[in-house]
Amino acid sequence: MSSAIAATNHAGAAVARVPPPMAMLAELTHRCPLACPYCSNPIALTPGDEELSTDEWIDVFSQAAALGVLHLHLSGGEPAARRDLVDLTRAAVSLGLYSNLITSGVGLTEGRINDLADAGLDHVQLSIQGVSPEGADRIAGYKGGYERKMAVANWIAATGIPLTVNAVCHRQNMGEIDAMIALAIRLGARRIEIATVQFHGWAERNKAALLPTREQVEHATRTVAAAREKYQGILVIDYVPADYYSQYPKACMGGWGRVGLNITPSGRVLPCHAAETIPSLTFKTIRDDMLSEIWYASDAFNAYRGEAWMPELCRSCERKQIDFGGCRCQAMALAGDARATDPVCIRSPLRDRLKRETNRLSAMSSAALSYRGR
Ligand code: SF4
Ligand code: FES
Repeated sequence: MSSAIAATNHAGAAVARVPPPMAMLAELTHRCPLACPYCSNPIALTPGDEELSTDEWIDVFSQAAALGVLHLHLSGGEPAARRDLVDLTRAAVSLGLYSNLITSGVGLTEGRINDLADAGLDHVQLSIQGVSPEGADRIAGYKGGYERKMAVANWIAATGIPLTVNAVCHRQNMGEIDAMIALAIRLGARRIEIATVQFHGWAERNKAALLPTREQVEHATRTVAAAREKYQGILVIDYVPADYYSQYPKACMGGWGRVGLNITPSGRVLPCHAAETIPSLTFKTIRDDMLSEIWYASDAFNAYRGEAWMPELCRSCERKQIDFGGCRCQAMALAGDARATDPVCIRSPLRDRLKRETNRLSAMSSAALSYRGR
C-alpha cells in the first residue's frame, strides 16, 4: 500500500490525508543491564512477563510490512536481552524490512553478532556514553561496559554490517564531542549520531544534572561544523542540537502520525516514544486491533494530525508545515497542555519562562545523577 488515505477522528471529521508509515520502532523489551540517567523510557517499565511473544512480534512485523513500513528499528531497553533476537531479525528480513539494531552492545557476543549477520541484519547503531572507560561507565552505571562496547564494535566491523555510533550528549560529556567523533572513526563507523539529551521519561529526573549550558551548546555546534568539513566523505555526522536553546522546535517524529510509529514491549502502538505522558489519549495494542486500523483510524493517531488541532499561533504561522507546531509531549511537559505551541518556540508565550528555567537548571553544577533501577 502506498497511497494516502483520508483518516477521520472520533467525531467522523476528516483530519488529513494520511500516508502509510515509513518506519517502525519495535521496543522489544524494557529490560536493560545499563542504568543511564538520560534514559527516555518511561518511569514505569513493562515487566518481562508482559512482553509480546516471538510469534506476536513476527505478526506485528508482517502487518507493518503489509502497511508499507520500510525501516524496522529493533530497540529497547536492550534488545539483546531478548533470546529470540536472531529469530526476530531473520523474520523481519524475510518480510523485506530494512532491519536496524539499536543496542548498547552489552549482551552481544561474537557468536551472536555472526548469527545476526547470517540472519541478514542490515545495520547496527551502537551507543557510547563517553570516550574513556571511567567516564563512560560512570554515565552508563555499568562497570566494564565501555570495554565491552569496543569489543562489540570490532566484531560488528568483522561482519561488514554498517555501523553507526550513537552518542547522547549532555552537560556531563558535552566537551567530548571531538573525541567521540574520533572514536567513531577508529571503530569503523560510517555515521555518528550526536543527539542532545531529551527530557522524556527517566531523563526528566536528571534535568538539573544533564541540561547543557549555552556555552557548551555553542561550542558543540562549532565543533560539529568543523568536524563535518574535516571528515567529509569519511564519516556522516548527524547532530540533534539542544532544542531548549533553539529558536524553533524540532519537527518531532516528522509530525505526529505522519512518518513513523512505536510499539512498546507489551504491544501498545504509540505515535511517539513519550506519547503515554499525554493523559487525554488512550492507546490500543496490537492484541486489540490491526496495525493498519490503529494507524489510520485510532483517536490517538488522529489527535494531532493536520492543522485543525493547532492553536491559532501555529495555524497562522508560515512554519507550520516545517515543524508541525513542535513536540506534543514537550508541550504537555512544559505547558501542561499537549495542544499548546511547543514552549521552545520563540513565538510561544511560555518561551521566556522556559529560558529562565533553562538558565537556572544549567547552572546547578553540583546536581547528582539519579540512575535507573537503583
Ligand atoms: Fe512552529 Fe508554531 Fe512556533 Fe510557528 S508558532 S514556529 S508553527 S511552533
Ligand atoms: Fe511525543 Fe515529541 S516525543 S511528540
